[in-house]
Amino acid sequence: MGTKTLNMGNIVAESDATALDLLLEKVYRSGGYDFRGYKRGTVTRRLERRLHATRAKTYLDYMRILDTYPEEYEKLADDLTIKVSGFFRSPYTFLQVSRLVLPELVSYKKNRRQQELRFWSTACARGEEPYSIAMLLDDFLEHRLKDFNISIDATDISRHALHEAQTGRYSPKEIGGLSPAILESYFIRQGEGYVVNSNLRQMVNFSYFDLVSTEPPPFLNLDCIFCCNILIYLQKQLQEKVLDMLYDSLATPGYLVLGEVETPTDNLRGRLECLDAKAKIYTKNDKTV
Ligand SMILES: C[S@@+](CC[C@H](N)C(=O)[O-])C[C@H]1O[C@@H](n2cnc3c(N)ncnc32)[C@H](O)[C@@H]1O
Repeated sequence: MGTKTLNMGNIVAESDATALDLLLEKVYRSGGYDFRGYKRGTVTRRLERRLHATRAKTYLDYMRILDTYPEEYEKLADDLTIKVSGFFRSPYTFLQVSRLVLPELVSYKKNRRQQELRFWSTACARGEEPYSIAMLLDDFLEHRLKDFNISIDATDISRHALHEAQTGRYSPKEIGGLSPAILESYFIRQGEGYVVNSNLRQMVNFSYFDLVSTEPPPFLNLDCIFCCNILIYLQKQLQEKVLDMLYDSLATPGYLVLGEVETPTDNLRGRLECLDAKAKIYTKNDKTV
């Protein structure tokens, strides 16, 4: 009896897994969103919400709903992506970037009379991370931004989040942790909330890019890449693939910032020099290439 029940359980679990594979394949082929290599636990938990919202009882039911209401693809993608973020979300990471990365990078550029400083925030959500990078740079350069030609590219797969990031509008709760001095320097009060000022906004370019796509990297020769709180949602093999692509996008010297939450892959450990094991800050330099 016990064995039979167990076997039954396995069969159900197996067919569920197959249905999930079919569903994710469909979402990729017809909806253009590739969640096939995301960790299954998060995907199934988040999918439950869409099944519940559309009253679908099974994954197969839900596939029929996708056929009838193609706008459901976008809603699904929105539910499958976790967009929690914050300004200077990991204060330790930003502190270490200003201590370990910026002095080395800026003096390297000055010594060679190079003015370009190129950053990429690879999963920027609603813009808190790239705007934090812009504030960090302005503070580090003591407001002499004009000495450099700075660009911060910020990408994400959530078009909704990108649109909101572009408007640069935040509620008092969202900017809650920022000091009055930062608010005064970089934000303008607007109604109940705050909006980032034009200086900051000019430094950041938002665009769509899917990190797990097979497209070639959109930017090359970058001085510093932030890839924080996104790899944790991907299976190991896909993490390696994304990190390979980011490695190719970096200049030499170049810096990769993964933040406190991510775990570096073995592949990465062998190719980059670690500057801070807690904030997961790495450098690609002459010794590592
Ligand atoms: C938890 S937020 C992290 C935001 C920010 N990097 C931070 O550390 O606060 C994860 C972001 O990754 C985005 N994302 C998920 N899959 C992605 C992909 N394949 N390519 C680009 N962005 C992705 C989500 O839309 C979401 O905005």
